Amino acid sequence: MVRKPTLVAGVDSSTQSCTVVVRDAGTGALRRTGRASHPDGTEVDPEVWWDALQAAVAAAGGLDDVAAVSVAGQQHGMVVLDADGEVIRPALLWNDTRSARAAEDLIAELEPGDAHRPGPTAADRGGGSGRAAGRTAGAGRAPDRAVDLAAGRAAWAAATGSVPVASFTVTKLRWLADHEPGNAARVAAVALPHDWLTWRLAGSPGLDRLVTDRSEASGTGYFDTARGTYRRDLLGLALRRDDAARIVLPRVLRAGEAAGTGDPGLGLGHLVLGPGAGDNAAAALGLGMGPGDVAISIGTSGVVSAVSPHPVADDSGMVAGFADATGAFLPMAVTLNASRVLDVVGRLLGVDHGELSALALAAAPGAAGLTLVPYLEGERTPNLPGATGSLLGLTLASATRENLARAAVEAVLCGLADGLAALEDVGAPVERVRVIGGGARSEAVRRIAPTVLGRPVQVPEPGEYAADGAARQAAWALAGTVDPPSWRPAPSRTYDGEPARHVRERYAEVRHRHVASPHAR
Ligand code: XUL
Repeated sequence: MVRKPTLVAGVDSSTQSCTVVVRDAGTGALRRTGRASHPDGTEVDPEVWWDALQAAVAAAGGLDDVAAVSVAGQQHGMVVLDADGEVIRPALLWNDTRSARAAEDLIAELEPGDAHRPGPTAADRGGGSGRAAGRTAGAGRAPDRAVDLAAGRAAWAAATGSVPVASFTVTKLRWLADHEPGNAARVAAVALPHDWLTWRLAGSPGLDRLVTDRSEASGTGYFDTARGTYRRDLLGLALRRDDAARIVLPRVLRAGEAAGTGDPGLGLGHLVLGPGAGDNAAAALGLGMGPGDVAISIGTSGVVSAVSPHPVADDSGMVAGFADATGAFLPMAVTLNASRVLDVVGRLLGVDHGELSALALAAAPGAAGLTLVPYLEGERTPNLPGATGSLLGLTLASATRENLARAAVEAVLCGLADGLAALEDVGAPVERVRVIGGGARSEAVRRIAPTVLGRPVQVPEPGEYAADGAARQAAWALAGTVDPPSWRPAPSRTYDGEPARHVRERYAEVRHRHVASPHAR
């Protein structure tokens, strides 16, 4: 008798859609897929993620014959729950920049001495955001925000591995405390998108059954990534609450540890639930990345991430010192302006992605001096939440459709090349670079990437790597082994090209001039 293969499912609940892949647990062979869209916007009712997950599962043929499922999701999103487990307000997503000021305030409020010891909460210190003010007043000198920010950045990097930016959950909680204090006072638990979806699959049991993993906890801003423990003092600081010890935070599971089983009431009682992960950590697992491997993902966000055996803490904030989904670390630099820059320029030129790519490849490197600073949504790395974009170097000769298309591709790649350089600067091992995500489907991106990055790149065949990583995690939790199952890596093609140093030099100069100008903000 032929034994039926064991199937596992991986979910990627991303910014734009929910994708489900069903794979063979033993070999990783793809069996089925399904997808459903998410609405646009940076503030979303989590219930629509649950609906999309169910629709994507149905499109993937259901989970009746599947033994385990794990959920990957967009990082950082703030899902706040009340004591009854109800969502208090729509989730604020990673790309919502309204908490930029909150990020700056939190940075200024942390002193170097608070980096390693869970310090008092804001209320213990007399409430409010008075730490920096108290310090400077006590010292009898005028408040110096720049000094506070430099010291605060170092303190946050030492405490959590990262300097908070508007994307991080901790800054969204401070925004909530300042703009919706009634809601902040009702917060009984804080979850991230994937934590909440895993909890829903378990049938929304008590809040104490919320779970997460290191990769997600490390993106909150109130988790000490090197030590693997929550920093409740930072949670209290953000929420301006002195009872942060009572707020439920999801239990952090070990890599590959099962999160329990699905809800029998939903017909999911047969399913082992994997721990889940942030989408970037899941993609690293899906790609089978190890130390020395770098992934450059060109999607809604542009992400440069490297697997590192040791934790990374970068005071400058260029590199976030996150954890991965295998027990190692995943330092990354993240831009807000990636595939949508190509979308927008394609729209301006009235062409689809294939035509945009052909136009870009028809122009010479450097686009005859036409340079795009692509800060169409502000920027996260470097941290310029209020910045705008600009197009410089227009002349009668440079003003062509080809040059504009090329400038867009080069701009996205220059931002990512800066991220890769920052990773190298903090000692992340960089040996093999792979380019993934929707943007990697563009032939222009594939061919221009090695010239801008100054090194060959591998482009794996198009795939759903975050969902694949979640599926591999499900197989891992099902097997209960120390290491994840070995699945065959996706075939990839290598692209190489003559380094075009002048493209990055010109971009750096133009970017510098642009962000220094008052018109840029
Ligand atoms: C990573 C980040 C984004 C989201 C996108 O820090 O904010 O890559 O995870 O889904």
